[in-house]
Amino acid sequence: MYEALINRAIEARKASYSPYSGFSVGAALLTDDDEIFTGANIENAVFSTTICAERVAFAKAVSEGKRNFKAIAVFGGKGDSIDYCYPCGVCRQVMTEFCDNSNFIVVVAKAEDDFKTYTLKELMPMSFKF
Ligand code: THU
Repeated sequence: MYEALINRAIEARKASYSPYSGFSVGAALLTDDDEIFTGANIENAVFSTTICAERVAFAKAVSEGKRNFKAIAVFGGKGDSIDYCYPCGVCRQVMTEFCDNSNFIVVVAKAEDDFKTYTLKELMPMSFKF
């Protein structure tokens, strides 16, 4: 069910700019109208300005008018050592802004056929929303 989305995250990871950590991440965000927006992490010499793959995908989608999302696939690791890569707290907060936490699915993948799924509510319980 999530194979195509994971495939797009794996492809997106190839554009990661991560010379400082060597940790490359790709993300693929599925909208409610079945469009996919991808992202890769972009690091900076001023480390705090680094942006995660997930937030790049959200920025691309939201800045093109998208507001409703079904799922995001995340694929990352240092070099060839890929493990399940869980979104950081900042990315979870960004997801909380735009997603229904009971329905939005976070897919953490090691491969197209090796992944785990969570609702945003599981990853971000008792979250802050206006
Ligand atoms: N990173 C992501 O892009 N997404 C995650 O889910 C975890 C961390 C990036 C940020 C930084 O460029 C590198 O991975 C190491 O923290």
